[in-house]
Amino acid sequence: MGGGIAAYKAAEVLRRIQALGADVTVVPTRTALEFVGAATWSALSGRPVTADFFDNVHEVPHVRIGQQADLVVVAPATANLLAKSSYGLADDLLTNTLLTAHCPVVMFPAMHTEMWEHAATRANVATLRDRGVLVVDPDSGRLTGADSGPGRLPEPEAIAWIVQAALAKPNLTQDMRGRHIVVSGGGTRERLDPVRHIGNRSSGKQGMALAAAAVSRGARVTLIRGDVDVPTPAGVDVVDALTADEMLACARELAVAADVIIMAAAIADFRAETLPDAKIKKTDSSTLDLNLVHNPDVLATLVAERQGKAPLLVGFAAETGDDSGTWLEHAEQKFEKKGCDLMVANPVGHDRAFGTDTNEAVLLLGGGVTEEIPGTSKVELSQRVLDAVVERLV
Ligand SMILES: Cc1cc2nc3c(=O)[nH]c(=O)nc-3n(C[C@H](O)[C@H](O)[C@H](O)COP(=O)(O)O)c2cc1C
Repeated sequence: MGGGIAAYKAAEVLRRIQALGADVTVVPTRTALEFVGAATWSALSGRPVTADFFDNVHEVPHVRIGQQADLVVVAPATANLLAKSSYGLADDLLTNTLLTAHCPVVMFPAMHTEMWEHAATRANVATLRDRGVLVVDPDSGRLTGADSGPGRLPEPEAIAWIVQAALAKPNLTQDMRGRHIVVSGGGTRERLDPVRHIGNRSSGKQGMALAAAAVSRGARVTLIRGDVDVPTPAGVDVVDALTADEMLACARELAVAADVIIMAAAIADFRAETLPDAKIKKTDSSTLDLNLVHNPDVLATLVAERQGKAPLLVGFAAETGDDSGTWLEHAEQKFEKKGCDLMVANPVGHDRAFGTDTNEAVLLLGGGVTEEIPGTSKVELSQRVLDAVVERLV
C-alpha cells in the first residue's frame, strides 16, 4: 500500500481479501503509515506490520514476503510507487517485496488526474504492463478535494472481484492484453406500464465474474450491464442496458471493434406488445390479459451480422430439463440454432445458479467437443471459459 489519501479504503480492501479465504500480510510504505497507522493494519491482519526491512532482519522479510506470496496486491499504488517499481528501486520493504515476488502482481493506482495523465506516469504504467504487471485503470470520480476525474481508487468490493479472479487462475498471465472483450451480464427489465416490469432472477454475478476474469488477464473490458444486484469489478467500462432492445443496440455498436463478445445476460424472450402511458388498473377480474411479443435474439443477430470471424461470439444457455429433453440436450439445440463459436451450458433451477457464488457448466466447443466444469466458483468457471476463448483468438 502506497501513501495516498485512498489508504483509508485499503482497510476495507484487506477485509474483503480476507473474506476470500486469504491470509494477508500488509506491507505499507513509510508514507502510507502517515495516513493510516501500523496498529490498524496489524490488528486487522493479525500480523506484525512495518515499512522497514531492518525490522525482524533474522527473518529476511525483504526477500521472504515476496517469495512466499501467491499474489501481491498494491492498493493504492501512488505515482511515486509506480515510478519506483518501474525502475526497480528497492529502498523500503514494499519495493523489495515487488522485486522478489514470483507471483502475479496487481496494482490499483490512485492519484489526482494530473498525476495519472502525466507522461511520466503513463510511461511507468506502460513499462510495468510490458513486464507483466496487471495495472488496473482507476475509476473516474470524486478525488481528494472537491475536484473529480480519472484517478479514484475503485471501491473495495470492485477491487475484491479482481483479486478473486486473479487467485482463481493458476499461472495467471496477461494473455488477453491488447484485446477488447465485451461481456453482458444481469437480467433485463421489460416495461409493462409506468411502474411495472417483467424481470428475471439473474443477479449479474456470472457476468461480473467474467468481466473480472478478463480484467485479471489484461483485457480491456466493456460490460453491457443489465439489471444487477452486485457491484461491478474494477477496471471495467460500463454501458447500462435494461431491455433486450437496448442490449442489442449496445452489442451491435460494440461488435464493430470487439475481439470477443460474451453474452451472459439473461435477456427476456418477450416484451409487452404495447406500453401504456397509464398504470394498468386493478379490476375485479381474476385474470389479467397481457399480449407479449418476441424480443430480438441478440446473439443470433450478432452471428448473422458478423463479417468474417471477429468478434468471437460466446453464448450462455441456462437450461432446465423437461419431457422433451435434458437441460444439456436443450442447450446443444440452442448452440446449433444460434451458430455462435462457444456455448456455456448450465443447468438452472429454483435453488440452482441464480444469485449464488457457484455454478457448474458444460462448455460446448463445436464439432461435438465438450468440456465439463463441475461445480465451482463463478470466477473459476469464468477463467475456464476464457481459457477456451484465448485458445481460439489468433
Ligand atoms: C494529503 C495527501 C494526499 C495524497 N494523495 C496522493 C494520492 O492519492 N496519490 C498519489 O500518488 N500521491 C498522493 N500524495 C503524495 C504522496 O504521499 C507522495 O508522492 C509520497 O511520496 C508517496 O509515497 P509512497 O509511494 O512511498 O507511499 C498525497 C500527499 C498528501 C499529503
